[in-house]
Amino acid sequence: MNASQLRARALLIDGRFSRLLSSSHVRKCTFQARRALHNVPHLQQAQSDRFRPYYVTSPIFYVNAEPHAGHLYTLLLTDVLKRWEVLKGDNQASLLTGTDEHGMKVQKAAESAATATKQFCDKHATQFLDLARAANISFDRFIRTTDPDHKVAVEHFWKQLKERGYIYQSTHEGWYSVSDETFYPESQVHLVLEPSTGRKIYASKETGKEVEWTSETNYHFRLSAFRDRLLEHYDQHPQFIVPSMRMNFIKKEVEAGLSDLSVSRPSSRLQWGIRVPDDDTQTIYVWLDALINYLTATGYPYGEGGNHKLWPPNVQVIGKDIVRFHCIYWPAFLMALDIPLPRAFLTHAHWTMGKAKMSKSLGNGVNPFLAIERFGLDAIRYFMIHDGGIVDDADYDNMFIVEKYKKGLQDGLGNLLTRILRGRKWSIRTSLEQVMNNGSLKKPDSARIQDMIEMINSTARSADEAMQSVNPRSALHNIMKLVYETNKFFQEMAPWNLVKDDHPDSRESLHMTIYTSAEAARVACILLQPFMPNKMQQALDHLHVLPDKRSFQMAEVGCDETYGSGASEAAHEKIPENMKKRIRYAHDGVLFPPLLTEV
Ligand code: MSP
Repeated sequence: MNASQLRARALLIDGRFSRLLSSSHVRKCTFQARRALHNVPHLQQAQSDRFRPYYVTSPIFYVNAEPHAGHLYTLLLTDVLKRWEVLKGDNQASLLTGTDEHGMKVQKAAESAATATKQFCDKHATQFLDLARAANISFDRFIRTTDPDHKVAVEHFWKQLKERGYIYQSTHEGWYSVSDETFYPESQVHLVLEPSTGRKIYASKETGKEVEWTSETNYHFRLSAFRDRLLEHYDQHPQFIVPSMRMNFIKKEVEAGLSDLSVSRPSSRLQWGIRVPDDDTQTIYVWLDALINYLTATGYPYGEGGNHKLWPPNVQVIGKDIVRFHCIYWPAFLMALDIPLPRAFLTHAHWTMGKAKMSKSLGNGVNPFLAIERFGLDAIRYFMIHDGGIVDDADYDNMFIVEKYKKGLQDGLGNLLTRILRGRKWSIRTSLEQVMNNGSLKKPDSARIQDMIEMINSTARSADEAMQSVNPRSALHNIMKLVYETNKFFQEMAPWNLVKDDHPDSRESLHMTIYTSAEAARVACILLQPFMPNKMQQALDHLHVLPDKRSFQMAEVGCDETYGSGASEAAHEKIPENMKKRIRYAHDGVLFPPLLTEV
C-alpha cells in the first residue's frame, strides 16, 4: 500500500470519509466487510459458492440450416450468465455450446444438398462455431454430437437405461414430424393447407410443422413411470423452470399424464445417428442422443474416480420451443440413472420479424454476422439482452437497435463518460483525492449525493439478485437505471457552474459531484462487463481502472482509490504495458461513435 492509499485507509478507519458515505455503508471493501454489512449479497455469494464451479449450457444447434439472430440470442444469454460468475470470482466457470448433428432432419437436408452427410455437418458446424467466436462467446467447449467421446457417453447411457429396465421394445404407430424430430399424438395433429404450396398436409397444431404417419418397431423408454417423481421435483424446486409461467405449463402437461417415449428409429429409415448398442437395426432417437451432450462435456461416463465436478449444470438455457424435451424427458432420463438434475432452466421467448417467429423455414432469419458487422458486436449484445424476450416474444427491427444504441449507449453511458472524462475544468483524480482528504459533507446538496451513493451501492446488489434469479435482462435494466440517474444528477449539480465559484462550499460540491459521478460510471462499467466485454474494457481503460480492480467486489463506492488519469506514480507503474497502449488509443476514439447507418 502506498502513502496515499494508507492515508485514504486511515480516513476510512477514523470515520471521516465514511460519514460522507453513510453510517450504514461503511466500506472497507474487503470481502469480509461486505459480508458483514450486507445480508443479502452474503447469502447469495454463499449460495453461488456452494454451486461452484458454475456450469451453463446452450442448446446445441441443428446443422440443417445456417445460424440466425435467434440462435445468437440463446448464446448471448449463456455467455452473460457465465461472465457474471467469472466477474464474481469463479475462474472455473464453464460454458458449453455446440451442434446437434444426427437425426432425420439433418440426414434429409444433406440428401437435398447432395452432399455427404458428415461433410454437410462439418460445413454447418463451422458456421455455428464461427458465430460463437464472432459474438465473443466465452465457451469452454464446442461439442459436436459426432465427436467420438459423445458416442461413448450415449452408448453408456443407453446401456444403463437398458440394464435398469427402463427400455423395452414394441411396435409404435404415430405422427412423426421430421422438422421437430418428435412424435405427436393424434389429438395434436390436424389437416391444413400448406400456405406455400397449397398442398393438404397433416401438421402439428403446436408448431405447424408437417407430420407423417409412421408405423415401426422400436425401443421405448418408460417415461410414464416418472410422472409423480417429476411433479414432486417441480414442487420442491420452484426455480427449476424460469420463468414460472413455463413451469406451470409443464406441470399441467405432466399432470395430464405421460406416455412412454419412442427412443429409437429403424436404421433402415434413419442411418445418420448412433446405433443402439447390441442392435444394429436401430438408431438412437436424436433427442436422447442430443441431450446427453451436456453430460459428455463433463467427462461422462466418469469411471472410477472420474472428474465430474461440473455436474449438474447451474443453468441450462433453452428456447420455449424445446421446453418439453428439456424439462420433462431430460429430467426423467437422468432420474432413471440417479444422476442429479440440472438446477435451473432459463427458458426464453423468441425473436420475431413482423410478429412471425424468426426461422430458416420461414426465410426471415436475420444474418447475425451481418448484424454484428453493421452495428458492432457490443451494440448487438446490448440490444439483444436489453430487449430480448424471456416471457413474451420480441420483434426484431434495425430501427429498434439504432434507438436503443442512441438512448442507452450514446446518450446514456457514452455521454456520462464523456462528461466526466473530457471536462476541461475538472478531473476524476483531483476530485477523488480531495474527497479522500476532506471527508465530511455538510453542504445542502449532501442528501442528493447521499442518495446517489445509496443507488450506486444498491445497483450491484439488485443486479446480482436478478442474475441469481436467472434474469440477465432485468440485471441490465437495473444497471442502466444507474447510468440514466447519474446523468440526471450531473445535470442537476451543473459542475460547469460550480467551477466558476471559488467559495469552499462550491469547491467541495464540485469535487463530490465529479467523484460521485465517476464512482457511478466506474461501478456501472464493472457491472456491464459481462454484457459488453470489449466496450467495457475500453471504458474502464478510459477511467484508468487497474485490471485487478474490475471485479464484482469492486462495484461499491469507495472501493478503488487508484483510478483516474494521473493517479500516483506507484499505481501508474502497476498499469501493464498493453493497457497503457489501449489507453492511448482509447483516448483518440469515442466509445460509442455514430452508427454507420447514421453517417
Ligand atoms: N437441436 C435442438 C436443441 C437440442 S439441445 C439438446 C434445437 N436446435 S435449433 O437449432 O433448432 O434451436 C436452437 C435454439 O435456438 C433453441 O433454443 C431455439 O429455441 C433457439 N431459437 C431458434 N429460433 C429462435 C428465435 N427465433 N428466437 C430465439 N431463439 C430461437 O432445437
